[in-house]
Amino acid sequence: MSSISPIQTYIDEQIESFQEQLFDLLRIPSISTDSSHKEDVMRAAKFLEEELERIGLERVELYKTPRHPIVYAERCPHENRPTILIYGHYDVQPPDPLNLWDSPPFEPTIRNHRVYARGASDDKGQSFTHLKAIEAYLQTGTELPVNVKILLEGEEEIGSPNLVPFIKEHREMLECDMVVISDTAMFGKNQPSLTYGLRGLAYMEVEVTGPNRDLHSGVYGGTVQNPANAISKIIAELIDDNGVITVDGFYDKVKPLTEKEREEYSKLPFDEEEYKAKLGIVKTHGEKGYSTLERASARPTLDVNGLWSGYQGEGAKTVLPASAGAKISMRLVPDQDPEEIAELFTRYIRKIAPESVNVEIQKHHGGRPVLVDIDFYGIQAAAKAFEKVYDTEVLFSREGGSIPIVSDFQEVLGVPSILMGLGLKEDALHSPNESFSLEDFHRGIKTSAEFLQLLPAYAG
Ligand code: BES
Ligand code: ZN
Repeated sequence: MSSISPIQTYIDEQIESFQEQLFDLLRIPSISTDSSHKEDVMRAAKFLEEELERIGLERVELYKTPRHPIVYAERCPHENRPTILIYGHYDVQPPDPLNLWDSPPFEPTIRNHRVYARGASDDKGQSFTHLKAIEAYLQTGTELPVNVKILLEGEEEIGSPNLVPFIKEHREMLECDMVVISDTAMFGKNQPSLTYGLRGLAYMEVEVTGPNRDLHSGVYGGTVQNPANAISKIIAELIDDNGVITVDGFYDKVKPLTEKEREEYSKLPFDEEEYKAKLGIVKTHGEKGYSTLERASARPTLDVNGLWSGYQGEGAKTVLPASAGAKISMRLVPDQDPEEIAELFTRYIRKIAPESVNVEIQKHHGGRPVLVDIDFYGIQAAAKAFEKVYDTEVLFSREGGSIPIVSDFQEVLGVPSILMGLGLKEDALHSPNESFSLEDFHRGIKTSAEFLQLLPAYAG
């Protein structure tokens, strides 16, 4: 596609209206984990359904599920050309803590050429780029160069519970040569990259209970095990001084990094000082013997995501709390299995928990880790598309986050996913002040349009 093709011109001319449309979507608080926002999640789904209709896709449908809907559309004009399935999610993480936002999370606000809103990058802004690229073809009267199917879900942030059965049930409708996903990050600013690995996840909750009520910490302290103390001790025992996770059997299935992989990792441009400065930390931390980049994507981890117990109000209250709890996630790497890890974790907590308290362990969602083959023609075409738009060579990297459905696409549909991330680390996903670069929104649309154009030739 030359830079003055009608498609690129359309994208340039429409970019402001594309932004406005994205902002309308960002105004909908589609928080999937919070049942009080169920209607909002539905509103976001309907918004996208209408959008897909409007831009000229076919078979547009909103599929209800036990929780949040799945939106589907397609346009498959070619018999002998590749079919891509574009996947994205329109649900978002809760915006709290609200007081740390500089502008309200569901009132998209532009500052420094970035739009600030929950979901701006993850994943409304990123996934919207593909819809706008398709629109550019169809609204300029240009047929799509490949067959396109679109699948948008509202449950990614809660582990895609209804999407897995959906893809199993609609295998035929979803048949494709590859899945295309923009829900990861680029390696750095102006440095596009293709992600070839994602970590998996096992998310657990531990609750420790002791006495049948909160007690006076003076009257009972010293005679009754304090659940807050007990859970702190349990947590402290989960990782040793070398940053190694102590859960029995945890590393049994971890594929070690090969020398070649480590060499590739060491070639990636990475500035540890800048990394620390951006995060406001004095020292990076993690498993000994691995670099920061390796620890961020190719090694498994264990983190407390939430911790509660006792008095949290102003001032001091002398109390020995009756219970304490923690939400703990473990990021997994090939070939760890989330079910197995959940089991090993449960067994280990039971083993180390003091007898003086009662411990309940619950499993939340999980997802398998994935690796994709970078020689796949779709990845090569995506690399070329990025290079044309960003005018620089792409890097190939693994990332630490999880998109659990990717492994299901691999298993159920038998196809690889191309992870064309458009985000940046500083987008602050899941944090206050999430944002997305408007320049990358624009370049992302162009990259998607280029990719569609280039793909048939790469398919051979
Ligand atoms: N978009 C992220 C995943 C991601 C972010 C991958 C950055 C690579 C780089 C996704 O929406 C997400 O946050 N997923 C959850 C999955 C979980 C809730 C099952 C995650 O990783 O915490
Ligand atoms: Zn996401």
